Amino acid sequence: MTDISSLLEPVRLGPYALKNRIVMSPMTRNRSPGAVPNQLNAQYYAQRASAGLIVTESTAISPQGLGWIDSPGLYSGEQIAGWRAVTDAVHARDGRIFVQLWHTGRCSHVCVQPGGQAPVAPSVVPSRGRSRTPAGRLEHSVPRALELEELPGIVGQYRQAAANALAAGFDGVEVHAGNGYLLDQFLRDCTNRRTDAYGGSAHNRCRLMLEVLRAVAQECGCDRVGVRISPTNPHHDMVDSDPENLFSTAVAGLNDIAPVYLHVVEGATAPGAAQIPFDYGKLRALFSGIYIANNGYTCERAVEALAQHTADMFAFGRFYVANPDLVERLRVGACLNPFDPETLYDGGVRGYTDYPLLATA
Ligand SMILES: Cc1cc2nc3c(=O)[nH]c(=O)nc-3n(C[C@H](O)[C@H](O)[C@H](O)COP(=O)(O)O)c2cc1C
Repeated sequence: MTDISSLLEPVRLGPYALKNRIVMSPMTRNRSPGAVPNQLNAQYYAQRASAGLIVTESTAISPQGLGWIDSPGLYSGEQIAGWRAVTDAVHARDGRIFVQLWHTGRCSHVCVQPGGQAPVAPSVVPSRGRSRTPAGRLEHSVPRALELEELPGIVGQYRQAAANALAAGFDGVEVHAGNGYLLDQFLRDCTNRRTDAYGGSAHNRCRLMLEVLRAVAQECGCDRVGVRISPTNPHHDMVDSDPENLFSTAVAGLNDIAPVYLHVVEGATAPGAAQIPFDYGKLRALFSGIYIANNGYTCERAVEALAQHTADMFAFGRFYVANPDLVERLRVGACLNPFDPETLYDGGVRGYTDYPLLATA
């Protein structure tokens, strides 16, 4: 059996002494009707509070940032109160929780947008994915390009959501700049065809993400802000002509702002997807803060990566769906529950809060 004691050591993250190096990866679960977090969500996150850090599911920063029904937001008093019940439940179990801030950009549909408007994007480049809407899963609508004058408003939405996160009792925020959503759409040249200061060079394409990070760090303090990127994940048709240059530029800009962590989805997440070559070791070496590695890590791979200093913490996604007590299971070398793919995004309690704990399995 692999000695996993190094993974279970406490680690400092900004102001926090985390219990271990294990992170619950952000996962959309579609259990917040009306975009308001509820008691069931509180129970789900509290069950997983033995992780060193929980990062919540993607959470919309504004009505315009929504792309899926039944996923939560953080722009109303009701949502802040709903999240407060979640953070209280996690803190009661001595856990730490950051909220992942999300603007879906072009990955949305007119029927979930305020006033039935077109979703927004850097440029008019439609996405081929589908949104969850009240009428079922529908092809993303053709987006409109954001005007230059609208960009400070987008930054303002992130800033306000970060302030709301603190009001809701979160320990910090993670800015979602990966997986093909708005900030990623600005980063990549496949979706960003702008000719103004936010398009063209890698430097310009990183501008919006860096402005958002700066604004959020001003609200929360940089040691309570992390950022997630996915340099070679083709999710939502994302690709870039030179990802090494783009993400080196991005990380150089991030170092000036000094977020507490960089959370990296290494490679493609879809099973069987082609893996694009990319030097993640170099990216890790460029970043001055904590590096959280994700995607397909097993406990053994994480222990090895830690020994080789290629990452500081490890985010587990799919393992956490079915194993609320993942840390305890890894500690004693127990088997992991398999997850039910049918209930990932539907099912209420089923496939959400009813996976057995080791003690009761
Ligand atoms: C059901 C499900 C929902 C997900 N939702 C999100 C999300 O809201 N935000 C995000 O950044 N990644 C999301 N992901 C990706 C995971 O955070 C993670 O990157 C991916 O599962 C790979 O990690 P793993 O191999 O440990 O599962 C989701 C993954 C799954 C399985």
